[in-house]
Amino acid sequence: MNKDKKFSYLFYNAVTYAGVMLSLVVGAVEVFLFAMDFFGKSRNPYLGLITYLFLPGLLILGLLLIPAGVLWKQSRIKRGLPTIELRRFRIDLSLSHHRNALLVFIIGTALLILMSLVGSYRAFHYTESVQFCGVVCHQVMNPERTAYLKSPHGKIKCVECHIGEGADWYVRSKLSGARQVIRTLSNSYERPIKTPVHNLRPAEETCKQCHWPGKFFGTMDFKRTYYLTEEGSRPWQIRMLLNVGGGDHQSYGVHAHMNVDHDIYYAAEDEKRQKITWVKSVGKNGNETVFTAPDSRWKDSPPSEAEIRKMDCIDCHNRPTHQFSPPYRFMNDALQYGVIDASIPKIKEKSLELLSKEYKSAGEARHSIEKALKEYYESDHPEYYAANRAAVESAAREIIKLFESNIFPEMKTRWDTHPDNIGHLVTPGCFRCHDGEHRSAKGKIISRDCRSCHLIVEQGPMGSLEKNIEGLDFQHPPGGDEWKEMNCADCHTGGA
Ligand code: HEC
Ligand code: HEC
Ligand code: HEC
Ligand code: HEC
Ligand code: HEC
Ligand code: HEC
Repeated sequence: MNKDKKFSYLFYNAVTYAGVMLSLVVGAVEVFLFAMDFFGKSRNPYLGLITYLFLPGLLILGLLLIPAGVLWKQSRIKRGLPTIELRRFRIDLSLSHHRNALLVFIIGTALLILMSLVGSYRAFHYTESVQFCGVVCHQVMNPERTAYLKSPHGKIKCVECHIGEGADWYVRSKLSGARQVIRTLSNSYERPIKTPVHNLRPAEETCKQCHWPGKFFGTMDFKRTYYLTEEGSRPWQIRMLLNVGGGDHQSYGVHAHMNVDHDIYYAAEDEKRQKITWVKSVGKNGNETVFTAPDSRWKDSPPSEAEIRKMDCIDCHNRPTHQFSPPYRFMNDALQYGVIDASIPKIKEKSLELLSKEYKSAGEARHSIEKALKEYYESDHPEYYAANRAAVESAAREIIKLFESNIFPEMKTRWDTHPDNIGHLVTPGCFRCHDGEHRSAKGKIISRDCRSCHLIVEQGPMGSLEKNIEGLDFQHPPGGDEWKEMNCADCHTGGA
C-alpha cells in the first residue's frame, strides 16, 4: 500500500473518482447559480428549473457514487478478484488516512444535508411560484396565465387555488405535475387542456380559506351597455340588482347555494358538466327533493354515488380567474369606454365575425384580422375609410389586442371551449338547472323566474331609460318574445 495516500485505499477506484469529479463540478456550478439567483435580478424561468431541480439531482448522484465506489471495490476484494492488498474494512483513527477519510465523510454529509435542506426549501418555493406554473409550461398554460393576470386574483399564487395547504395535496400535485411535464416535453398534451378539472381540490379547502360563506354579500348592482348591430340604434342599457345574499343566517339569494340552509347534489350527463339532468336538494331538516329534466337518463333510477357531485363554489365560479370573455362582452366594453370608436359603421358586427373565426395561430389571426378589416372598409365603406383611416387602423390594433388576451388558437382555448357558469346568456350557466324544466315528483320546479335572481331596475336605449326600483319586466333589446320560451344560449353564441 502506498503510504502517501491521504484516504483509505478503498477510495481509489474509478467509480469514486467519477463521483468526486461530478460533485465538484456540479457543486461549483451550483454555488455560482445560487449566488446569481440570490443576488441577481435574473428572472429566467429555466434557470430556476436547472438550479433547484436538475443540478441538485446530479449532485446527489455524484455524492452517492463516492461510497458506491468504495462498496464496489470492497465487494471485488471479498469475491477474491484481484486488488493490490487484501484486508478487512475497518476504521483506525490512529492512521492519518483513516482520519482524513472520516473527516471528509462527515463534512461532506453535513454539507449535503445542509444543501438539500436549503435546496429543497428553494425547490419547494420555486415549484409553488406563478413563474413555474405559468411560464415554464409556457405555451400550454399561456391561456390560463394570461386570463389570470388580468383577473381579480392576479396577485395570488396559482397554488392557492390549485394545491392549497398541507403536504398530501402538495405531493399529489407534484406527481400529476411530473406526468404533465413529461407530456409537455413529449408534446402529447391535450389542446385545449380539459375542463372542468375533475380532481381539483374541493373549494372548501381553497376558496373558503379567503372567502368564507359566513360573509354577507348583499346585492350587487350591475349596469351594462350593449351595442346592437342594427344600423342607427342607440346603445341599449340594462341595470340590475343581483341578489347575491349569503351570510351566516341567510337562507335567500344566490349564495343560499353555499350550503347555508340546504345542500345541493347533481349529476351531469357530459364531461363538461353542462347537461345537468338530475338535481337533489337536501334541507337541513333532512327533507330531500329530487328534480329531473324531461329527458333525464336518471328519470326512473337515481345516478350512482360516483356520478353525483355536491355543488360548491366551483359549480358557479368555475372561471374566477381564467376568464375567457366572449367577444360580444369585450366588444361592448371596448365600445363603451371608447377604446374602439363606436361611430365606425358596422364595427361591432364586423369584429364579432372576425373574432369568431377559427385560426391556426395568434400570428395568423393578427394578420387576417388586420387585412380583412382594411379590405372591408376599403370596398364597402370607401368614403368613410378615406376620411377615417386612422380610426379604422386603431380599431384593428385594439381588436387584435382583445383577441390575444381572450382567445388562444394554439391551445384551442376560448369562451366556448371553457364556458363560464355564472349567468345564462351565452352558456347554459344557471339555466343548466334553472330552465323551468327540472321538475320534482310533486311538480315543484327549479325557478326560471327572472326576478328570483335579479331585479331589472333600468332598461332601454341610452338617454331614454325606463326606470323602476320595484323591478321591470324584461324587454329584449331588439324586440321579440322568443326568450320567453327558448333559452338565451339557444340563440346567443357570444360571437357572430
Ligand atoms: C382563484 C383561484 C385560481 C387561481 C389563482 C388559479 N386558478 Fe387555475 N383554475 C381555477 C379553477 C376554479 C379552475 C377550474 C374550474 C373547473 O374545474 O371548471 C382552474 C383551471 C385551471 C386549468 C385547467 C384548464 C381550465 O382553464 O379550466 C389550468 C391549466 C389552470 N387552472 C392553471 C392555472 C395557472 C397556471 C395559474 C397561475 C398562473 C392558476 N391556474 C391560478 C382556479 C384558480
Ligand atoms: C388567497 C386568497 C384567495 C383565494 C384562495 C381565493 N380568492 Fe377569490 N378573491 C381574493 C381576492 C383578494 C379578491 C379580490 C377582492 C377585490 O378585488 O375586492 C377575490 C375576488 C373574488 C371574486 C370577485 C371577483 C370580481 O369580479 O370582483 C370572486 C367571485 C372570487 N374571488 C371567487 C373565488 C373562488 C371561486 C375561489 C376558489 C377557486 C377563490 N376566489 C379563491 C382572494 C382569494
Ligand atoms: C349558485 C351559484 C353560486 C355558488 C354556488 C357560489 N356563488 Fe359566489 N356568486 C354567485 C353569483 C351569481 C355572484 C354575483 C357575481 C357575478 O355575477 O359575477 C357571486 C358573487 C360572489 C363573490 C363576489 C362578491 C362581490 O361583491 O364581488 C364572491 C367573493 C363569491 N361569490 C364567492 C363565492 C364562494 C367562496 C363560494 C363557495 C363557498 C360561492 N361564491 C358560491 C354565484 C354563486
Ligand atoms: C345544479 C343545479 C343548480 C344550478 C347550476 C344553479 N342552481 Fe340555483 N337552485 C337550485 C335548486 C335545486 C334550488 C332550489 C333549492 C330548494 O328550494 O330546495 C335553487 C334555488 C336558487 C335560488 C332561490 C330561488 C328561490 O326562488 O327561492 C336562487 C336565487 C338561485 N338558485 C340562483 C342561482 C344562480 C344565480 C345560479 C347560477 C349562477 C344557480 N342558481 C345555479 C339548483 C341549481
Ligand atoms: C337562476 C338565477 C337567474 C335567473 C332565473 C335569471 N337570471 Fe339573468 N342573470 C343571472 C346571473 C347570475 C347573471 C350574470 C351576471 C353577470 O354577468 O355577472 C344574469 C345576467 C342577465 C343579463 C345580462 C347578461 C349579460 O351578459 O350582460 C340579462 C339581460 C338577464 N340576466 C336577463 C334575465 C331574464 C330575462 C331572465 C328571465 C327569463 C333571467 N335573466 C333569469 C341569473 C339569473
Ligand atoms: C330567438 C333568438 C334569441 C333568444 C331566444 C334570445 N335572444 Fe337576445 N338577442 C337576439 C338577437 C338576434 C339579438 C340582436 C343582436 C344584435 O343586434 O347584435 C339579441 C340581443 C340581445 C342583447 C343585446 C346584446 C348585445 O351585445 O348587443 C341582450 C342583452 C339580449 N339579447 C338578452 C337576451 C336574454 C337575457 C335572453 C334570454 C332570456 C335572450 N336574449 C334570448 C336573439 C335572441
